[in-house]
Amino acid sequence: MSTNDDDLQKEIIEVCLRRGIVFPTAEIYGGAAGFFEYGPIGELVRQHLINLWREHFIASEENIYEISGSLILPEKVFEASGHLSTFNDPLIQCDKCKSMFRADHLLEEKDASINFDALSIQELEEMVKKYEVTCPSCGGSLGSPREFNLMFETQIGPVSGNRGFLRPETAQNIFINFKRIAHSMRAQLPFGVAQIGKAFRNEISPRNFLVRLREFEQMEIEMFVDPDELNNHPRWDEVADYEISILTREAQKTGGTPITVTVQEALDKGLIPNQYFGYYLALETEFLLSLGVDKDSFWFRHLLESETAHYSKGNYDLEIKFPFGIVECIGNAYRTDYDLMKHAEKSNTKMHIALPDGKKVIPHVIEPSFGVTRLFYVLLLASYQKGDREWTWFKFPYSVAPYEAVVAPLMKKDGLKEAAYDFFWELKDEGIDVIYDESGQIGKRYARSDEIGVPFVLTIDYQTLEDETVTIRDRDTTKQYRIPMAETAEVIRELIFNVITFQDLEKEYAELNGKESKKGKKTEQQKSASNKKRKQKKQKGN
Ligand code: GAP
Repeated sequence: MSTNDDDLQKEIIEVCLRRGIVFPTAEIYGGAAGFFEYGPIGELVRQHLINLWREHFIASEENIYEISGSLILPEKVFEASGHLSTFNDPLIQCDKCKSMFRADHLLEEKDASINFDALSIQELEEMVKKYEVTCPSCGGSLGSPREFNLMFETQIGPVSGNRGFLRPETAQNIFINFKRIAHSMRAQLPFGVAQIGKAFRNEISPRNFLVRLREFEQMEIEMFVDPDELNNHPRWDEVADYEISILTREAQKTGGTPITVTVQEALDKGLIPNQYFGYYLALETEFLLSLGVDKDSFWFRHLLESETAHYSKGNYDLEIKFPFGIVECIGNAYRTDYDLMKHAEKSNTKMHIALPDGKKVIPHVIEPSFGVTRLFYVLLLASYQKGDREWTWFKFPYSVAPYEAVVAPLMKKDGLKEAAYDFFWELKDEGIDVIYDESGQIGKRYARSDEIGVPFVLTIDYQTLEDETVTIRDRDTTKQYRIPMAETAEVIRELIFNVITFQDLEKEYAELNGKESKKGKKTEQQKSASNKKRKQKKQKGN
């Protein structure tokens, strides 16, 4: 990490701590590596991020069902899924100070051009010797790498011998409930099952703030499809021309860069396994762009054969450039019928489903798997702004900002406080997501509001008491206009759903802002048109 990048991460962590965004777990006891907690502001942003994801990937689809499963699952589940035997990372220990590290990470620090993640334990041992890697803590010699299983183990009940594990992915609850879900929902293929929830991995070396944690959150979809229909996605036409960036296997071998292709081209060239897979790559690209992530800073990397699980017929990781390097934020896998077959065998439960013609199949699975915590950090990085203000601010997309507006009396005296407080409740009653802030000078309140990324501040001043107007201040430009109190809720809604821009307020309320109105008041017809536009935008989740 360069000094500037290092500073950026430190700055963001500092704002997160100071403004109630994210805190280290058990901070008063010195913290616990790999664990973080969301503060009051961070939790709102997290909820909004999750809601946006739900709108984009679930609510806008016909047939995706969401479940919420247990965090602890019995051993048999992970025997069947293969996690017990293969969910390992290469652990290496210093002979002298006994510190432990991930062997592939130590090697990456020596040579970033090689993908050590893909090497076997024997190959890693040879590489550690070749690169003469020593202990980063004390310089001592390192022992031989060995496999370390990442699952947290626990005992279920008071009697020992009944092992359980904290789930390392949310996916397994979906597979083990497949039969119940299919029957109870009378589901026909294709259909999806989604889950948002915690996952746990006992990472050898948690690092980089929210990137590698021991407790984190995932949003996963398992899309169940008739294996003969994988190239017959009902909404393919909507995405076929959508452009995505792909880092091909070829490019990785020759040091090339990502290419931009339409999903149709990716399919025609055999870069992606099927239409269902391509559909998700398009939706994910659209989702990342809606979070404000720069289109040149992410791509889908086709995992090399040596990195791809034996059951998968194709994995693409959505990788994003972070200040300290490249991070996988979404994993896409074509898991075939592997998981259902394994659970069918182990549990003696039939996992097939009948097609309308009576034929029975075990569906194939396309899995997009999102890390909430990593995407939350991506959002912080993509939104973080520094400019000519004395403070930094988060330019969050309106859809994920912690609140829509702050209501602030200019002073606490002369009836301003009471007027502001009443106005705050009126806006709340009208469904606007507002917070009230009367503490400190107004400039400080603007700074606080910007720092947590609230789009607008509504200030109640002496003029408010005379003419029932307020000022609305824009986070991104710091411009302010006067608007009528009675129309504020509607204005905020129109701004949030991008029906109007902040600049439009200058013309719309020209008389209040020292200019002659060109437009005049909105007609009923215009109002109904803007309502319609807003509804359409809302459906898109932007
Ligand atoms: N069910 C498939 C699965 O779990 P994965 O690539 O291991 O696939 C999916 O994980 C996503 O979960 C990753 O892309 C990442 O965003 C997130 N994730 C995985 N391990 C994580 C960790 N230790 N800390 C934070 N997020 C993690």
